[in-house]
Amino acid sequence: MTDQFDKETTAALIALDRRHVWHPFTQHGTAADPILIARAKNASLFDAGGNELLDLVSSWWTCTHGHAHPKINSALAKQAEIAEHVMFAGFTHRPAVELSASLAALLPGDLNRVFFSDDGSTAVEVALKIAYQYWINRGEPRRTLIAFDRGYHGDTLGAMSVGRGSGFFGAFRDFMARVAVVPYPSTFEGDVSVEEREAGALSALEAQLSVRPQDVAGLIIEPLLQGAGGMRVCRPSFLKSIVDLARSAGVLVIFDEVATGFGRTGTMFAMEQVGVVPDLVCLSKGLTSGYLPMAVTVARDPIFDAFLGETFDRALPHGHSFTANPLACAVALCSLRLFEEEKTLERIACIEQRHREFMAEIAMREDVVRPRVIGSILAFDLKGPDEYQSAQSTALRNWYLTHGLNIRPLGPTVYLMPPYCITDAELTRSYDGLVEGLDALGS
Ligand SMILES: Cc1ncc(COP(=O)(O)O)c(C=O)c1O
Repeated sequence: MTDQFDKETTAALIALDRRHVWHPFTQHGTAADPILIARAKNASLFDAGGNELLDLVSSWWTCTHGHAHPKINSALAKQAEIAEHVMFAGFTHRPAVELSASLAALLPGDLNRVFFSDDGSTAVEVALKIAYQYWINRGEPRRTLIAFDRGYHGDTLGAMSVGRGSGFFGAFRDFMARVAVVPYPSTFEGDVSVEEREAGALSALEAQLSVRPQDVAGLIIEPLLQGAGGMRVCRPSFLKSIVDLARSAGVLVIFDEVATGFGRTGTMFAMEQVGVVPDLVCLSKGLTSGYLPMAVTVARDPIFDAFLGETFDRALPHGHSFTANPLACAVALCSLRLFEEEKTLERIACIEQRHREFMAEIAMREDVVRPRVIGSILAFDLKGPDEYQSAQSTALRNWYLTHGLNIRPLGPTVYLMPPYCITDAELTRSYDGLVEGLDALGS
């Protein structure tokens, strides 16, 4: 196995990358060369020179059980021997059927119908299309969607439209679906004005819903935690209230659990902490433990039933070449088994406990504001500019990278989201390094 490259190979690969690759969310006019990763294991990445980087971003929040897990590796290899891909219209296969049944059993209520797609953005795209067509199929077309300020749902057109409050998509503002954005009362440890902000947000939502409720197809929210918007947490009671408001206005509720699903917030799905069942839920990222791109949009039975009929025009005209790829389904099934076998939720509770102890310490710092912990995620904001890639966040990121930690601040928000296999010693190393970086840069 090649787990290190000599200097010439590294330089040649980086030169080719510089010449031919267009990286995501990157300003190539100013970006430094990317780090060449040679291999990954457990909670760590190893660069071409063999240097270890603790993956505290879980590879863009996808990696749950750890990199190169032996059981997932073998499930993947085994499925590759059986069938690597099968088109999914008019055909089905065992891993997809078993995965759909397992997800339906794990999810609450009648969230029973699993529609497969490729990534978080397509899962959201599918949810929006289902919500839109649901009303058409009922003979009561509705054109507006409601989303939350600083919410992020992906980069395809519909997902950008409902993520217009994220601040990432200014260039596309005239290219979007009709979306009303309402306030989101993010909270943190020691927040004394949360109730007031929640009341304001609820009355803004109520006002929005009262304008033309018969034109609102659905409301979409990242339950309990806005990820890319800055690891912004809300209280379960707030979430419950907005679902109640949406339901009483007859509006469909979409939970985007692309980031929160599969244990990140402490329970398998964030919705479990609220005790509500959305009409549609989007899952991806941790679904395959970060191994392969796959997503699902799961619908409640009555939503699916609205697409039944004698003619194709009532069916959902959506599908991708790689829908329900068998390799990805086999990996996802193995990942679900690991949650049981490795008692992953218990491990997440231990990580949360360690985060809380560290939060009490870091919250004492002058430069730290709004500390928060939810499940396996610790976050706080630094006093300073609220820009996505500020000089402060870039300097911090670079410091951490040169000190063995993959920590990627989101503007002023510094956070840790480790793979669940992270050891206690690695957590200690993460906390110590995090503080050293803040001290070194005098944040
Ligand atoms: C909540 C949420 N929804 C959707 C997406 C989009 O997922 P993807 O990048 O896989 O398209 C993300 C990605 O970070 C996300 O955090």
